[in-house]
Amino acid sequence: MSKPHWRPARASDLPAISAIAARIHPDLPESPEVLAEKMRLCPDGCHVLAADDEIVGYGLAHPWKQHWIPSLDGFLGRLPNDADCLYLHDIAVLPRSRGGVARAYVAEIEQLARASGLTALALVSVYGTRPLWEGFGFRPATADAELRAKLEAYGASATYMLRNLAAT
Ligand SMILES: CC(C)(COP(=O)(O)OP(=O)(O)OC[C@H]1O[C@@H](n2cnc3c(N)ncnc32)[C@H](O)[C@@H]1OP(=O)(O)O)[C@@H](O)C(=O)NCCC(=O)NCCS
Repeated sequence: MSKPHWRPARASDLPAISAIAARIHPDLPESPEVLAEKMRLCPDGCHVLAADDEIVGYGLAHPWKQHWIPSLDGFLGRLPNDADCLYLHDIAVLPRSRGGVARAYVAEIEQLARASGLTALALVSVYGTRPLWEGFGFRPATADAELRAKLEAYGASATYMLRNLAAT
C-alpha cells in the first residue's frame, strides 16, 4: 500500500467521508448534507487522506469568526463576510492510518488561512486531544457563556482553541 497523502476533497468523496465520520464520531453524528455543505462552501479547506484507491481520513475547515462555533450537525448557510479565522471543523483518520498524519493537513490549512488574510486557526478539541493541538501551537481560549453552551454538545472534554498566526 502506498503512503497515504492529503489531496483536495471532491464531491464524490462524500460517502467515504461520511462513513469515516460515522465510525470515528458515533456520539457526534452529522448528516452527509451538513458535511457536503462545508465542502461546497470551502473546497480549498476540505481534504481527504488517500491511500491507493481508498479514503482513510478527512479534514474539513472553513473561514469563520473567532469565539463562534457552528452548531453540531447544523448548516452554516453562508460564510461570514468578516471572517477572522479558519475554523477546523474536524479531522478524522482511521486508526490503522494514524501516526503523525495530521501535521501535513494542519500545514495546508495554515497556508490557506495566510493566503486568505486570516490571522488565526480555530477548533474545538474533543476526546482529550488538547495535547495534540497544543503541539501544533493551539492554545485554549476563554469561552463566554454562549460559547460554553455550544461546547456542551461536543462532550465534557470539549475545549475551544485558537492558534494565532500573526505571532509566528
Ligand atoms: C486526530 C488525529 C487525526 C491525529 O492523527 P495523527 O496525526 O496520525 O496523530 P496520532 O494519532 O499519531 O496522534 C498524535 C499524538 O496525539 C495523541 N492523541 C491522538 N488522539 C488522542 C486522543 N483521543 N487522546 C489523547 N491523545 C491523543 C497521540 O497519542 C499522539 O501522541 P504521541 O505523539 O505522544 O504518540 C487522529 O488521532 C484521529 O483521527 N483521532 C480521532 C478523531 C479526533 O479525535 N479528531 C480530532 C477532533 S478535535
